[in-house]
Order: sequence, then structure tokens, then C-alpha cells
Amino acid sequence: MRRLAVLTSGGDAPGMNAATRAVVRSAVARGFAVAGVYHGYTGLIAGDFRALGARDVGGVLHEGGTFLGTTRCESLKTDAGRVAACRSLEQNGIDALVVIGGNGSQTGAHALADRGVAVVGVASTIDNDLYGTDVSIGATTAVDVALEAIDRLRVTAAAMRRAFLVEVMGRNCGFLALMAGITGGAEAIAIPELDVGPDQIAADLHDAYARGKSHAIAVIAEGARLNADRLLAYFRDNHDRFGFDVRVTKLGHVQRGGAPGAFDRMLGTMLGVAAVDAVIDRRFGVLVGLVNGAPACTPLADVAGRMRPANAALVETARQLAA
Ligand code: F6P
Repeated sequence: MRRLAVLTSGGDAPGMNAATRAVVRSAVARGFAVAGVYHGYTGLIAGDFRALGARDVGGVLHEGGTFLGTTRCESLKTDAGRVAACRSLEQNGIDALVVIGGNGSQTGAHALADRGVAVVGVASTIDNDLYGTDVSIGATTAVDVALEAIDRLRVTAAAMRRAFLVEVMGRNCGFLALMAGITGGAEAIAIPELDVGPDQIAADLHDAYARGKSHAIAVIAEGARLNADRLLAYFRDNHDRFGFDVRVTKLGHVQRGGAPGAFDRMLGTMLGVAAVDAVIDRRFGVLVGLVNGAPACTPLADVAGRMRPANAALVETARQLAA
């Protein structure tokens, strides 16, 4: 019987459990013995493998996070760590490894593939910054969580005629800020892909009041040159010039902890099954993602170490629509 291992790595993302469940159940149904690797690459190096049957992944589909646990593993970036990971796979008799995670995790998967490991990646990160997929597992749920917060903030902003700077995650990618900003009707959006100065953001917020709005919201990506703290300092220094009160809300990890929405459960399920398909077809060293609506494999060599930027042109669209 062939043996397949699955792990989750990097920042957890809603829908990771759906993907793990799909990998396990689909592989078991097709004759594999499956091992879950606990705590990501750290557990791989330490040999933390536990057999998983179809029933062991019951009750996880609707849960955020990842029941396998996850880490950001510094030692996998070293030769010694990679050698140890390969040895551990060998010692546990693993024929193929599925890695569910984002950019850093898939770079690690690529390094293992270079050492001869039969590895398949599954695109999962709330940042949605991976090449090889139109959308990553967890991104749409994270947008929904941010959106719910923005909707609530608009209520209190309007009541007190305040401006809000809402900082969202995304590392160096503006996807989450763009999507949450557009769907939340934000008056301004700041993302790393487009350098917008503080005066422009101030003008956008100020103009919103001038047009008769009772609130003004700017969604700021954490990776933007001027993050929420820097913008707040700027607004405070120039309070007399702008004449409105500003508050900051940083959503932070709240965005990662949501229960996966239907789309992320479906995406995790589709990509998990497609990862097992890739293993059966012996297509290794690839990332499984969603391309033009269908699961597709992209070489990890084309994915590793790269960041897919958000569509900066949408910032102008958002400004027009916030009229
Ligand atoms: O990559 C996912 C992500 O949530 C980023 O948006 C964020 O910058 C980072 O992880 C936070 O990392 P950590 O959970 O290690 O603090």
C-alpha cells in the first residue's frame, strides 16, 4: 500500500481543515494509507506523524484554523533542516507529501522537491498572494470577516461623525484591503502595490464629509508604506487642517480565525481532491490551485519566492464608487 503524508504550514487559513479532510478521505478511498504530520514542517523534522483514517477527519469541515497545527519553521530554511525532513519522510515510509500552505510553505515544498521528495502543494493563505491560483483557501473568508468589521465600524463612525482607519492583514499584498475596501464601500484604500500619500487619503476622507456623508472609512493594508499607525500620527499632527476625529482599528489575527465560508470549504475540498489526483498521476513538484474556475497544477519552481500582487487599478475604481 502506498503511504501519503499531509501537513499544514505557515499562517492558518479558514478552509485548511476542509483541504486536509479532502486529502485524507480521497486518498483513503483510493487505497492509500495516510499519515497526518502535526505542527507543520517542525513536526515533519521531529517525526510527529499520526495515522489518519476517514473518520479521524470528522467534524473539522466547519472549523477555522487547522487541527493538524501549523508553524513557521525556520529550520526548513537550512540545509540541515531539509536533510532532516527528507530523512523523516524516509523513516516513516512516506511515498508522497501534500503541503497545504502559502508562500513560505510552498517555497519550502519546492526545496524538498529539489531534494527528490514527491511533493504536491495546495494553495492556502488568507493573503491571496500566491502565483498558480486565482484564489487561495482562506482568502474569501478573511475578506468576509474584515467586511463584517467594516460594516460595524461604519455604524459607530456615522453616529459620531468620525473617520476610521481600518488596518487589515495581507503581508506585502493588498488583496484583502482591496476586497474589503471595495465591498465595504470605503472612501479610501491604501495598499503596498500603489503608493498613495497621506494627503490623498486625508483628502478622500475630507471630501466624503464635504459630500454629505456622516462617516469616512479608509482601509489600510498592513504592508502599505504608510500603515495605520503612521497615518494616525499624520492625522493627529494635522488635526486642525482636517478638522475631523480619527480612530484606528487593527483587525489583525481576527481575520484568520473565522469559520470557513461555503466557498472556502468548497475550494479546500476541490483542491484537496485534486492534490490526491496529482499524486496518483505522479505530477510532483507542483502547486494545486484554482485557475479559470478549475483545479490546475503549476510547477513549484514558478511559485516559490514570488508574490502575486493585487490589482492596483481597482483602487481608483473604489474611489469612484465611493462618491
Ligand atoms: O500570511 C498570513 C498572515 O496572516 C499575514 O497576513 C500576516 O502578515 C502574517 O500572516 C502574520 O503572521 P503571524 O501569525 O506569524 O504573526
